[in-house]
Amino acid sequence: MRFSPLPPRTVPAVLIAITLLLAWLAWGSTHYPETLWAPGNLSRYHADITACSQCHQAFQGASASKCASCHTAKQFAARAKPTVSAFHQQTLRDGKPCTNCHTEHRGALAQITLGAMANPHGEFVFRATHTHTCGACHNFSAGFQSPPQLLDNIIVRHLLDEGEGAHRLGKMAQCLSCHKGGRMEIEGEEEDGDE
Ligand code: HEC
Ligand code: HEC
Ligand code: HEC
Ligand code: HEC
Ligand code: HEC
Repeated sequence: MRFSPLPPRTVPAVLIAITLLLAWLAWGSTHYPETLWAPGNLSRYHADITACSQCHQAFQGASASKCASCHTAKQFAARAKPTVSAFHQQTLRDGKPCTNCHTEHRGALAQITLGAMANPHGEFVFRATHTHTCGACHNFSAGFQSPPQLLDNIIVRHLLDEGEGAHRLGKMAQCLSCHKGGRMEIEGEEEDGDE
């Protein structure tokens, strides 16, 4: 009644091979887990972290609560730019996954922040309006990957009033397309003469 897919004499050898392989995996998992199981090297920011469990919840992947044990609301408040800090504190409160925007295991030099918001205005926007943060005119709570909401505040209303009619929503984000070379005054010609 016995059925074996292998010739009977090779069974002990195969069992030994499997046992050795499992032993090697078990040993390797505790000694070199990254080499064996991780999809790639950690970034330079996290290269010092030795335990996978600092970021990973068993069977669930990287979890926000693990990240938050190092990246606390307090740390964001103390170190990050105001908009970035406010946004992350909200993310922490909501328990949203960090992996929507951050990656890992792409090698030491990899950029681990995806889709960092580009600034379509150039530094010009700060100089021209005497503001210091994107948050002076925008609400980023929808996340860094969707377009920010324009606030309705005195700074924005004042900016819309300037420009002698040229500051029209939907047409003005690229400040430097009219304010060539970052100049405040627009010389003579109207940039988009479709008035
Ligand atoms: C600094 C935090 C951090 C550490 C430490 C870390 N990981 Fe990860 N790991 C991540 C993040 C973040 C992702 C998700 C990457 C993505 O989605 O681009 C990930 C993804 C993975 C994945 C792909 C499957 C999945 O859950 O998305 C594996 C497998 C993995 N890690 C294994 C490991 C192993 C093994 C170690 C320990 C040697 C380790 N990781 C250490 C942050 C970390
Ligand atoms: C054991 C502590 C620890 C854990 C856990 C940890 N980090 Fe970090 N993280 C650091 C350190 C240290 C740095 C280096 C920069 C610094 O703060 O000085 C860093 C830097 C970063 C940066 C900044 C990179 C840049 O471009 O400046 C991001 C983003 C980041 N971590 C995201 C995460 C995410 C997402 C997780 C969870 C998957 C995570 N971290 C888990 C300690 C940690
Ligand atoms: C919607 C996208 C998004 C999510 C979700 C997100 N981040 Fe970020 N994070 C960013 C962007 C964009 C930056 C870079 C901002 C900049 O400096 O330009 C950043 C920067 C950081 C930094 C560096 C802050 C500094 O000191 O300048 C850390 C640390 C960080 N994130 C950790 C986390 C952790 C932990 C989570 C999860 C709780 C998380 N992030 C969730 C988009 C995100
Ligand atoms: C002084 C006010 C002001 C500041 C400061 C400001 N913006 Fe804007 N932003 C605007 C206006 C006005 C628009 C045009 C909105 C429209 O056309 O509906 C805009 C539009 C945008 C858009 C959408 C672009 C498009 O093509 O529709 C993005 C993205 C953006 N801003 C990002 C930023 C970032 C990032 C910063 C900080 C580096 C920033 N803004 C700072 C006023 C500002
Ligand atoms: C479609 C062309 C156009 C775009 C795009 C544009 N502007 Fe203007 N802007 C003008 C014109 C025209 C004037 C008024 C002409 C003048 O003052 O010489 C002006 C005037 C201004 C003034 C007042 C200058 C002064 O000397 O009083 C400021 C401040 C300003 N713009 C900021 C911005 C900012 C910030 C952006 C991007 C968010 C922007 N502009 C985008 C055309 C534009």
